[in-house]
Amino acid sequence: MKTVSICFVCLGNICRSPTAEAVMRHQVAEAKLTERIVIDSAGTGDWHIGQAPDERAQRAASQRGYDLSVLRGRQIGAIDFERFDLLIAMDGANVDALHRVCPPAQRDKIRLLMEFAPAADRREVADPYFGGDAGFELVLDQCEAACRGLIAALRPRLTG
Ligand code: 4NP
Repeated sequence: MKTVSICFVCLGNICRSPTAEAVMRHQVAEAKLTERIVIDSAGTGDWHIGQAPDERAQRAASQRGYDLSVLRGRQIGAIDFERFDLLIAMDGANVDALHRVCPPAQRDKIRLLMEFAPAADRREVADPYFGGDAGFELVLDQCEAACRGLIAALRPRLTG
């Protein structure tokens, strides 16, 4: 049985990428693909290693039925490019940071999350850390739209 493994990546791994991970887990379960799609997240920075997601991200997510409380921050490393088929970044700075640690042969694995929501008007998921609650709602809206597109894009890799 074919499987695909993906890792969502942001700066701190306490706001955007844990939100994407939880939204993706939820949608993948709804699509009955839990056994087929391996999901993780990581940050390019090291400030929040071992920490639970930001309280504001947890609160906004829980209001939509997603539980972030079990997740813990970790930092991306070169080994992740061996372990995962796709490294899905939230913004261009994350993409640049991933390129700096990525073995050259694995560069094609790096994508931007919003590529998977082509009808959306924003190409990046903006960092909500220094802003207000609306930023966390926007992150959720963007993750919900893009994860739907991502699952559709992964389906051909799971067949045959
Ligand atoms: P994230 O948000 O990259 O979505 O997890 C951030 C969290 C923490 C910091 C920056 C962004 N920080 O500077 O500590």
